[in-house]
Amino acid sequence: MAEFAKRTFYLTYYIGGTMSIIYSEKEKTFTLHTENTTYQMQVDKYGFLLHLYYGRRTEGCMDYLLRYADRGFSGNPYDAGADRTYSMDALPQELPCQGTGDYRSPAVIIKNADGSYGCDFRYKSHRILKGKYGIPGLPAVYGDGDTAETLEILMEDSVTDIQVTLLYGLLPGLDIVTRSAAIQNLGSGKIYLEKAQAACLDWLSGDLDLISFYGRHTMERNVQRIPVSHGAHVIGSRRGTSSHQYNPMLILAEHETTEDAGGCYALSFVYSGSFKGEVEKDQYNQTRALLGLTDELFSYPLERGETFYVPEVVLTYTNQGLSRLSHNLHKCFRLHLCRGKYKDCPRPILLNSWEASYFDFSGDSLYALAKEAADLNMEMLVLDDGWFGHRSDDNRALGDWFVNEEKLGGSLGSLIQKINGLGLKFGIWLEPESISEDSRLYKEHPDWVMALPGRNPVRARNQLVLDFSRPEVVDYIFEQVCKVMDQGNIEYVKWDMNRSLSDCYSRNTKDQGRVFHDYMLGLYDFLERLIKRYPDMLLEGCSGGGGRFDPGMLYYSPQIWCSDNTDALDRVRIQYGTSFGYPVSTVGSHVSAVPNHQTGRITPLHTRSITAMAGTFGYELNPETLTEAEKEEVRKQIRDFRKYEPLIRSGLYYRLTDPFRELPAAWEFLAEDASEVLVSVVMQEMHGNMPVMYLRLKGLPEGCFYQEQQSGQIFASDALMGGGIPLSDQFGDYAAFQFYFKKI
Ligand code: GLA
Repeated sequence: MAEFAKRTFYLTYYIGGTMSIIYSEKEKTFTLHTENTTYQMQVDKYGFLLHLYYGRRTEGCMDYLLRYADRGFSGNPYDAGADRTYSMDALPQELPCQGTGDYRSPAVIIKNADGSYGCDFRYKSHRILKGKYGIPGLPAVYGDGDTAETLEILMEDSVTDIQVTLLYGLLPGLDIVTRSAAIQNLGSGKIYLEKAQAACLDWLSGDLDLISFYGRHTMERNVQRIPVSHGAHVIGSRRGTSSHQYNPMLILAEHETTEDAGGCYALSFVYSGSFKGEVEKDQYNQTRALLGLTDELFSYPLERGETFYVPEVVLTYTNQGLSRLSHNLHKCFRLHLCRGKYKDCPRPILLNSWEASYFDFSGDSLYALAKEAADLNMEMLVLDDGWFGHRSDDNRALGDWFVNEEKLGGSLGSLIQKINGLGLKFGIWLEPESISEDSRLYKEHPDWVMALPGRNPVRARNQLVLDFSRPEVVDYIFEQVCKVMDQGNIEYVKWDMNRSLSDCYSRNTKDQGRVFHDYMLGLYDFLERLIKRYPDMLLEGCSGGGGRFDPGMLYYSPQIWCSDNTDALDRVRIQYGTSFGYPVSTVGSHVSAVPNHQTGRITPLHTRSITAMAGTFGYELNPETLTEAEKEEVRKQIRDFRKYEPLIRSGLYYRLTDPFRELPAAWEFLAEDASEVLVSVVMQEMHGNMPVMYLRLKGLPEGCFYQEQQSGQIFASDALMGGGIPLSDQFGDYAAFQFYFKKI
């Protein structure tokens, strides 16, 4: 454990003062108090670490909840002697292991040096520390000694000499508990981790709903809510990225829980690769939820002395409904996960060249775009795909990270200078993990791609994936990328990844069960080096839009392109789903042209801007195609966004309607001090003789007054929350409104 602590950050020994993590020697309990929640565990008489409770804040020892009975066909550990009422199959646990008589899904499976499967970890010691633990090579929530605490519990398997240090991080002020683990092989031979998940939550009773977020390319994070039932419900990704298909997050909510009331839990995985989330009601109607690395194609070797760090899961609980649950996650990710210069400040309003001109541009046309952008008061031009090698379309040149000066009509440096001369920043697109077969890099290093031996590789978007589990590949691409970055004042990078991994194989190792995870470690290493070397650069994550929209990426890039779908109507749904787990400050969102390039739908410019304002805001169109009146409108949108930006970025976000079920899609930003409120509404359908719809605001302090700034009308806060505001003057397809209130 000492060795582990040396490598963690932010930690100092606890020497005095009040701690929120309390160990009771008498009851052998660890109690983790946050402002509104309590998480409690207990070392039982045999040294197992039992989970006693997670929920609303409470005092006292919760072991009175445990009941023991002779359960047929549920095994008993040898230590229990003739006591047939003690079974791991029925007890709530922190670290359920395969082979202990617990037949529910385990968090850990180990193949031992002698080929046997099984492990049995018992409590050895613990430490309570100020500050939040870090995890070598992996993204993690951070916090200093004033905001965070850490509990390390050392568990040991005395037969194999494998140790697990369970890590609990606490942000008491935000009701956040994080979980990770370090698994160290101190035994005599090589072992394999066959499953290693950081978070297990066992509920003794209760009927819960599972809310998860499924989707597809250009339609990410749809919301599904289903009752937890017998039989496991499993979500996950086997794509090597967190994926468009399932977001690495689970919400468990009581049946009655709504946006505004009721108990609910979130589990969010701080990782960007394959994952697995499982929820199952067991034979005794107890529920177990697990979230972490997938065990499929995972078999991670640990030689004697080696340590494996299990990626972290963020947990939060509230008894105040889903809005509050989201607020907890939003604050945690915005303030304790995102890093860097742009973490908590305005991002430049950008014009992206992709939907403006795709691959069809020259230095002159880019300069013309930049002039238009400057004329409209935007702040940055982003040169998207197509500027490197012979990348004339998406079939070639990935991996050739050198500038196509012929296409640009000069050097990148001179183009950037000209654009900077217009008062604009400059940003660029990269896809470093990918390679085209039609590229110089592939000719030089065909062995650097992922492909199964003796077989042709699987193509997707006609491209292959570089083996980022190999340090020499990562080093080479890093060098190439730096050479590009050093050619001029590049202030933003869009980091893309446009396919899923499939036939994953590395020539570097005999242990293929490590490759998916090592790929992620290689990627994280690259990203860490990049942001360290260019600390003023704004990194935006992207994977065909929102295919890697996860907390892991947020540790490196404070914003992520939310979806390749820029249609305002689809976007309100995608952004609605995204908002459950992620703060608006992280949501890349742009106004694009109509008819929309993904759906063909025509929505008003005003509606597109209101939708994009629930994000980082920018444009993705050729301004030359706009009329003078539209240009004037764009200038106004930019003025409006600048005015509202601090509120949008850091206000409390409320979902006012569910756009999957209700006609108006509506959301609210409320300043934390309640001094101002911005409400946005998009009408999803129009019908004849429409009934009046009323929109009720949320979260306002009672007994005070607000003035709507456009109409001047004054409302009591209770009227806004109780009676709402009528939406009666909508007309035309997809009308949108904004109401901006100030407290008086
Ligand atoms: C992905 C991104 C788009 C664009 C293209 C370029 O699809 O999500 O925004 O950058 O790649 O090829």
